[in-house]
Amino acid sequence: MPFYLKAMKSNNAERGTITWQSPSNIALVKYWGKHGNQLPRNPSLSMTLQASLTETALSYQKRKEPGNGIGLTFAFEGKRNETFENRITEYLNKLLPDYPFLADYHLQIDSGNTFPHSSGIASSASAFSALALCVVSLKNIVTDLQKESEFYREASFLARLGSGSACRSVYGGYTIWGEVDKVPGYSDEFAVPLRSEIHEVFQSFYDAVLIVSGEEKKVGSSAGHSLMERHPFAQSRFRQAHEHTAELIKVLSTGDLERYITIVENEALTLHALMMSSSPGFMLMRKETMEIIERIRDFRKTENIPVSFTLDAGPNVHLLYPGKYRKETVKFIEDSLADLCAERFWIDDAIGKGPEKIND
Ligand code: DP6
Repeated sequence: MPFYLKAMKSNNAERGTITWQSPSNIALVKYWGKHGNQLPRNPSLSMTLQASLTETALSYQKRKEPGNGIGLTFAFEGKRNETFENRITEYLNKLLPDYPFLADYHLQIDSGNTFPHSSGIASSASAFSALALCVVSLKNIVTDLQKESEFYREASFLARLGSGSACRSVYGGYTIWGEVDKVPGYSDEFAVPLRSEIHEVFQSFYDAVLIVSGEEKKVGSSAGHSLMERHPFAQSRFRQAHEHTAELIKVLSTGDLERYITIVENEALTLHALMMSSSPGFMLMRKETMEIIERIRDFRKTENIPVSFTLDAGPNVHLLYPGKYRKETVKFIEDSLADLCAERFWIDDAIGKGPEKIND
């Protein structure tokens, strides 16, 4: 049954609950630098994950008297969380001019992640995409139904306003956010699924998230992005991201693993080099991060297995590899990398199909 009919079945405009599960994503070409209302300075390209999910239930009940602004209670993993509640209230209040119906309801949001909060995994991507999907589903209930493609585009647009990388989590597979020089069809306002063919080798792909540390981020993402405003290498970096995105689009369709590895690892190290050379500079890699990278590169060379790595704005390492090499790679992780992870913890993730509406 199409998702929008599901919404009609169990809910009405008076009260109901809408639940979405949405995955996190890992950027292969990084979004780093933004301007205006959450617009990216450069295009980014990501792979949507499968196991690292946020599940969000939005319960709505018509208020007797339409309230002034958003009326929200927010619980994270079963407990009321006022920090998140304030952030989400602020976000929803900003949407009010275009989504006035939000003020007609009392909203109760219950959200939780399938991955541990302390795992250092960026949860804003999965959290804001799940929330945006709930908001657009509610819009579908109180107004006319939209076409499916418009539904996701609008959810991606709204997710972006909450957290830039979240706009890419609205779709499965590979996703691009941001206009790409000389490659038409992509937008700064919302993400779009990769338009070109994807070679078989990239259709079954894994991401082992090696948790070096579960500590809170040393630099928040908005503060991190703002460091690009005065960065001496900003313009060449933005140009490079265009080139990498355009080339990676080709690589994903030709199946050129060698170029994939070169681009993806260069993107990860560039992100960290940009942070290190910012003012103030941040050093987010730990000695275990470096050691893991060395071991991944050695394993690739000695075993001739096309494993590669990427990094987020933190010390954890994402080990990327084709499904064909699953057995050897899992053994390599257990034998040679798990000891470098906090409590030997790593998340066995893979390319995913995108969000799922799960109520009724
Ligand atoms: C390094 O999406 O977390 O993960 O828009 O301020 O919420 P905000 O930033 P956020 O930045 C993610 C940066 C990154 C790279 C990426 O995911 O593209």
